[in-house]
Amino acid sequence: MSLFKKCNEFTRADDIKKLGLYPYFRPIEANEGPVVQIEGRKVVMAGSNNYLGLTAHPKVKEAAIKAIEKYGTGCSGSRYLTGTLDMHVELEEKMAKFFNAEAVLLYSTGFQTALGVLPTLVQKGDYIISDKDNHACIVTGNLIAKGSMVEMVRYKHNDMHDLEKKIAKLPYEAGKLIVSDGVFSTGGEIVDLPHLNEVAKKYNAQILIDDAHSVGVIGKGGRGTASEFGLEKEIDLGMGTFPKPSHHLVDLYMVLKE
Ligand SMILES: Cc1ncc(COP(=O)(O)O)c(C=O)c1O
Repeated sequence: MSLFKKCNEFTRADDIKKLGLYPYFRPIEANEGPVVQIEGRKVVMAGSNNYLGLTAHPKVKEAAIKAIEKYGTGCSGSRYLTGTLDMHVELEEKMAKFFNAEAVLLYSTGFQTALGVLPTLVQKGDYIISDKDNHACIVTGNLIAKGSMVEMVRYKHNDMHDLEKKIAKLPYEAGKLIVSDGVFSTGGEIVDLPHLNEVAKKYNAQILIDDAHSVGVIGKGGRGTASEFGLEKEIDLGMGTFPKPSHHLVDLYMVLKE
């Protein structure tokens, strides 16, 4: 039982619960967006990702109910074998048009997008160059890629001089992907995309922007960070999450730019 020894000896969570200060796994009984009900009390929700309030929007609810009536509650298979529904394809095509992108691919969550895209696209001999404050899903995707001998380079948060210093040392001809949150999930600042783009072009690198907190929020009509800076044509890959502004319909997409 040595595997579970540390778990059995862990008391900190129970100690904090006894003080009534434990913040995790608190069941929400009713969710109207800005106001939720916890333990029978209505409280203002300042910590959710539903900041556009679309979770309880009548049109979104109606579409979800119609989809369940037509297809049931699941896809009955993985997307690439027997789980692709016609509405997945319809949504991907609509989103590609909206984002002015070559193609869109839906994943189940944002985390899975990073795990799916990074180790698949970036392979042995290639480099991932990642902002130190990027979201945990990118960090985890990078670690998986590193397991297949991908070289990982991290630069100081939103510091394009440090990015340039680091990338200048890498082989010009090697495959290089610069990855950054668009709006950073921890601090809320926006990536210095114009400068990042200049560095990418100068050193022959591609760009992936994680727009989980940007889509629906910044850019023309909510089209995200690249649109905010008028750089849509310069970005190679984008990703975003439905759970953030709208919350769980199909969840997540990845955009491949022309
Ligand atoms: C910047 C960023 N990217 C990706 C994700 C992962 O998205 P999901 O919750 O859909 O797995 C998050 C989630 O908090 C995020 O903040």
